[in-house]
Amino acid sequence: MVKLTGFSKIKTTIFISGNGSNLKNLIKFSKTKKSPISIDLIISNTAKAKGLKYANQFRIKKKIFNFRNSKISEKNILIYLEKRNINFICLAGFMKILSKKFLEKFSGIIVNIHPSLLPKHKGLNTHEKAIINKDKFSGCTVHYVSAKLDSGRIIMQKKVKISAKDTSYSLAKKVLKKEHKLYPASILKIFS
Ligand code: GRF
Repeated sequence: MVKLTGFSKIKTTIFISGNGSNLKNLIKFSKTKKSPISIDLIISNTAKAKGLKYANQFRIKKKIFNFRNSKISEKNILIYLEKRNINFICLAGFMKILSKKFLEKFSGIIVNIHPSLLPKHKGLNTHEKAIINKDKFSGCTVHYVSAKLDSGRIIMQKKVKISAKDTSYSLAKKVLKKEHKLYPASILKIFS
């Protein structure tokens, strides 16, 4: 477990594959006084990730590892993170599965946000699953990442009420809003 030392913030990287709204939100959080982390690097598996624009906007280093050969990409990520003294990883909409070997190296210092109330609805299409299942509530979870998909120890969760007229689209929007509160709160909890 990484603990805060002195006044320096914990050097963090965010892994993304898509829009990066959680990334943007975490960057803003990282700039607050109370944040224990600084965002020093953005990693994506694709140059098409819209969220990469925040690297330019906030002048943060970005790096793409294409995962065509995931073993090689993971090895290169490892070397890269070590070189830059990164010691905390936040996954935020990262769509590649990381290997057991990689995750064991970062055990306790790699976390993810998932758009459901885990252990319910692991994997993809969580909002569709919640609607089809006629769930009364959905929500989001921040958890440690372990080799078993979406099954690592839960850090925090936030609930969202599903109304009769919700579609997977409207539910996704509601949940995302909660995610933006949950991720910073979870990081504060981890390092408190
Ligand atoms: C979020 O719903 C997150 O929970 C999931 O992927 C989505 C990423 O959204 N893992 P964004 O790219 O942060 O906007």
